[in-house]
Order: sequence, then C-alpha cells, then structure tokens
Amino acid sequence: MSQVPNYHSLSVASVISETDDAKSISFEIPPELAATFAYKPGQFLTLRIPHNGKYIPRCYSMSSTPGQDPRPRVTVKRVDGGRGSNWVCDNLKKGDTLEVLAPAGLFTPKDLNRDFLLFAGGSGITPVYSIARAALKNGSGKVTLFYANRDWASVIFLEKLQELSMEYMERLTVIHWLDSEKGFANKGSMTVFANEQLQQMQHPEAFICGPAAFMDAAEAALHDAGLPPDEVHVERFVSLPDEDAPLDHSPVEGAVYGAQVEISLYGETYKIECNENETILEAALRNKIQAPFSCQAGMCSACMCKLEEGTVHMRHNEALDARDLARGMILSCQSVPTATQVKVRYPD
Ligand code: FES
Repeated sequence: MSQVPNYHSLSVASVISETDDAKSISFEIPPELAATFAYKPGQFLTLRIPHNGKYIPRCYSMSSTPGQDPRPRVTVKRVDGGRGSNWVCDNLKKGDTLEVLAPAGLFTPKDLNRDFLLFAGGSGITPVYSIARAALKNGSGKVTLFYANRDWASVIFLEKLQELSMEYMERLTVIHWLDSEKGFANKGSMTVFANEQLQQMQHPEAFICGPAAFMDAAEAALHDAGLPPDEVHVERFVSLPDEDAPLDHSPVEGAVYGAQVEISLYGETYKIECNENETILEAALRNKIQAPFSCQAGMCSACMCKLEEGTVHMRHNEALDARDLARGMILSCQSVPTATQVKVRYPD
C-alpha cells in the first residue's frame, strides 16, 4: 500500500516501444492486490506522475485484456506539451515503482455476445483494442474496427491487429484510415462506413475513442446512421487537475447533515452516514468502502452511480451529459445529499 490514500505502489514489469512515440507499460500485481486490480476491458488506470517536485494524476486506458494478459498494461503516446505522457515515455523503466489507483471507468461492454462497431483515432486504440480482444475471445458477434492514424508508422498494434484478423477472419474486420493518404476522417466518410456496417449487424453497440474532433465526428456519424444514443459509448479524457489543487468543500445550500446513504456496490449493500457538506464518495472512502473514483473533480466519470432515492447537489459536473442526468446518474465525488435518505447504485 502506498503512503498516499487509495493509491497502491506497483512495480513496473515491462516497458515496450509500440511505435516511435508510444510505449506500453505493464505492472506487477502482488497477490494481495489481485482483487483490487481486477478490471474490465476498456477501463483505465490513474497513475501518480512526478512533476517538478510534485505529483500529477493522469488516467491511461489499459490496452491489456483481462483473462488474456498476465498483467494490466497501459499504452501511452507522447503528446506535445503532455507533462504526464512524455514523462512516462521518457523515464519509466522496468523495476520502477509508481503509485496507481484501482482500475475505473465505464467504457466497457456489458455483454460481449453482441456485434461491435469500434472507432479509434491514434492512441484511442488502447481501450478499443482491449474491448475487441475480449469480444473476439469471449463473445460470439462480429467486430468491426475503423482505425484512423496519421500514417502507417504511427499505427499502434498494427501487427497484432493483423494477427487477430487472421485468427478471426470470419468475425473481425479492420479498416485502416490513414490521414496521409485520404485526409482526416470526417463525419461524411464515417457515416458512409457506419451505414454499410450497421446493415450487416445485429443489435450492435459502438465504442469510440480518439482525439476530440474524431470522436465528435464518429458520434455524429453513428447518429446519422440511426444507431440509438444508448448504444454509443464515447471515452473522453480530460486533463485532471493537479494533485495539490484544493478540493471544493464550500457549504452546499440544503445539505443534510447526517444523511443516511445506502450504497449498492459490486453486489454488496452498505449503509453509511454523510458528514456536513461531505460528498457520497468522501463518506464511502472514510468508511473504507472501495468505491471507484479517479479525479475527484467532476471530470472523469469514474465515480458515476445511479441515484435511486433522495436528492443530492452536485458541486461540479464536466463528465455527465443531459442523457446521463436524465437517467438519474450522478458523480458521487461531487454529490452532497440534500435529503435525509439517499440510495445510490454503482454500475456492475
Ligand atoms: Fe472523476 Fe468523480 S472521480 S468525476
């Protein structure tokens, strides 16, 4: 266990260069942390990265697939001015120790026995690759991947995807889109592609990860192609606030001191009490409940849960959209109870 609450010290098991500017880092998980670091395809790890004598938290998707890879592995690409990713690519080596939060994230399929339409741009392949391998090995549907990159040299997992295509010839289709040959993939090109693919799929689910403009275009294309929004998942990573940025503890109007909160998490039910102006996540962690979280700033959605009873005030929300809110979703790291009885349920 690390000295820092909720973080765990993990040793780097390997560092592999995937392309000139992307590396995969796998972590040794000691037996006592095996349950803590169990994960689902598409989830991410939060690494505590040293920077200028301080630490910055950064989320990186896992490219490994549970049940197929012996260790969790993130794949990180250098970005201009990227404090976290450049440090990982330039400095991390086998045997180093890093502080890591338990896996989190909701960019993961509930049922692997579906047809999957996947869109990845650049290093956005990382969670998508994990989902694709899980679906091919443990599911039975078709998997179609639209993968956009600058040029062939920047394609992460090129050979591995070719091997997978050979192994699952009947079920996997990979379409490489190279900006150097065709210009940027835009909504028009992706709509044509989505229309063609969706006609051949049964009850498909889509996952999108990549640069913001790419994700917006892919999401709009799927909308135009008629895929219901509930079947479209988009992984948006934002830069997290620095570790020493103060948490908001300002008084919340209508906050109920001593609110009774019932939490359903991974099949267990817990009953706890919230202190004054305390968020549900803060109360859960104070009670040693391993609720998922990452940024604690309302920006990543790792702590999302469903409000089943009562009311809360969310201090800040940059992660949930109108659709999530209409479904009763809240960010537990930002939610202060404003009713005496509150019930929340985390996704399975
Ligand atoms: Fe990131 Fe709550 S932990 S939004």
